[in-house]
Amino acid sequence: MDNFLLILHSLLRWLILILLVLSILRSWNGWKQKKPFTAADRKSYLFTMICAHITLLIGVYQLLFGRMGVITAGLPPGVELMKNDFFRFYWVEHPFGMLVSILLITMGNGMAKKQIPDERKFKKAFWYFFIALILILVSIPWPFRGQSIGRGLLPTM
Ligand code: HEM
Repeated sequence: MDNFLLILHSLLRWLILILLVLSILRSWNGWKQKKPFTAADRKSYLFTMICAHITLLIGVYQLLFGRMGVITAGLPPGVELMKNDFFRFYWVEHPFGMLVSILLITMGNGMAKKQIPDERKFKKAFWYFFIALILILVSIPWPFRGQSIGRGLLPTM
């Protein structure tokens, strides 16, 4: 079960990235070309948020109850959280960066319901999604992050 959730968590990154880029492009086009806000825009925002929230739930589970969970495993004896690259990344930097980005995605999606002119809706959503994308890209354990933190582009089955 834990392995399945880790695989899902890892794969969902690609879906989030694709949906987020799509929402960013739609917001940019809508904003710059002064288009009306459509149901397709609303769906694109909503699916991006749903996908991010599912990843968040799995991430919280992994952080608390996973193979290196705060509750199930705890810190190994002698390890100081902020002085250990591995635990600082997986217990602090990754969860915090992702939490903030998911909050921004949720705010971006919230623009769909706001009673403001469509041009402002697109503009605000664009910036929320764009900053979220940067944060996600910075917080993913890409393979080049080094031996202890880096993980594969695809999960190892
Ligand atoms: C947009 C949101 C997120 C993305 C794209 C993402 C992406 C990833 C990726 C790619 C991995 C490596 C998986 C592998 O080994 O192949 C990972 C691991 C992990 N993530 Fe996330 N994550 C997100 C949100 C979160 C959040 C919000 C938390 C915690 C609150 C979290 C906690 C973890 C933990 C604890 C691991 C290590 C699990 C283990 O190796 O047992 N993630 N994440």
